[in-house]
Amino acid sequence: MLLIRFFGGKGGVGKTTLAAAFALSRARSGLRTLVVSTDPAHSLGDVLDTALSDAPAEVLPGLWAAEISGERQARRRVAEVTEDARHAVPRDVLPAVERHLARAVDSPGTVESALLDRLTELVDQVGTEWDELVVDSAPTGHMVRLLTLPALLTPWIEGLARQRAKASDAERMVAGMIGDTADDEPDPLLQRLHARRERMEWMRTQLVTRALVHLVVVPERLPLAETVRAAESLTDAGLRLGAVLVNRVLPDDDPGLLGRRVDQQEEVLRRLTARFADHGVVAVPLLADALTGAGELGVLADLLAAADLA
Ligand SMILES: Nc1ncnc2c1ncn2[C@@H]1O[C@H](COP(=O)(O)OP(=O)(O)OP(=O)(O)O)[C@@H](O)[C@H]1O
Ligand SMILES: [Mg+2]
Repeated sequence: MLLIRFFGGKGGVGKTTLAAAFALSRARSGLRTLVVSTDPAHSLGDVLDTALSDAPAEVLPGLWAAEISGERQARRRVAEVTEDARHAVPRDVLPAVERHLARAVDSPGTVESALLDRLTELVDQVGTEWDELVVDSAPTGHMVRLLTLPALLTPWIEGLARQRAKASDAERMVAGMIGDTADDEPDPLLQRLHARRERMEWMRTQLVTRALVHLVVVPERLPLAETVRAAESLTDAGLRLGAVLVNRVLPDDDPGLLGRRVDQQEEVLRRLTARFADHGVVAVPLLADALTGAGELGVLADLLAAADLA
């Protein structure tokens, strides 16, 4: 049963909008649906017109939504590990270990794996709390990393756990030699690493067996190339692809459309011009060609040269 759906794709193609709309369609069909945003630059709350937090809240009948933050989760986890370290490492090296752990929060790997932890918690609740989970992902590269993280981290955690096991054997031997055999408590760090590895393997199985990825793309040449690459990385990682959503296809049966879009953009242009009067606002027209290579880019180069940017 496929119960988890990811909406991924290049920046700005409509992932958040379509993830929210799809989740709404599921809620309307009577399924308890949770839609979560994993993009650090959250906009799901804007699309749903409601302030969201890390804890799922029911925003419409049958539709719950949350914006999860890897950074907040990372801080929580680093605090736990720091607490373990206080018991597990010698007192004289503790300040250095604490400094190292404090810095770990700022490394991108920590934030991404913490985000995955939070997603794992939510995936764990699909089937009990919710019938379906819809994930609004960050742009493609980020999503591929997030989805392949369990596979990448498992060998790393195994290595760490092995080193840790060796170290605590040695510690026990030293303790035995000096006659202090009382300390036979299980190593909390090692236990945590094992638990984490099991959890990641569980998540990877969930992703491979229960998840589907919908790639969202706009009908232009550059996004096309990226979509084909993303599809390859995702299937290489063992994930299943669902239908590709081609967003913003120009309809050929709505003669009033262009006029309404022109009205909308004039309004936005007016507001931008008022707000950024001191800096200048330059309108760049929509062009028909794919803007790659010096020839086609040259059109825009001339335009920007003529605009004489402040
Ligand atoms: N089919 C559509 N017709 C008109 N406007 C659309 C359509 N789909 C999305 N948009 C608009 O395009 C903009 C970008 O959409 P959205 O925020 O959903 O993209 P995104 O892929 O989530 O972006 P990001 O990569 O920044 O998270 C929004 O203003 C949204 O309202
Ligand atoms: Mg988005």
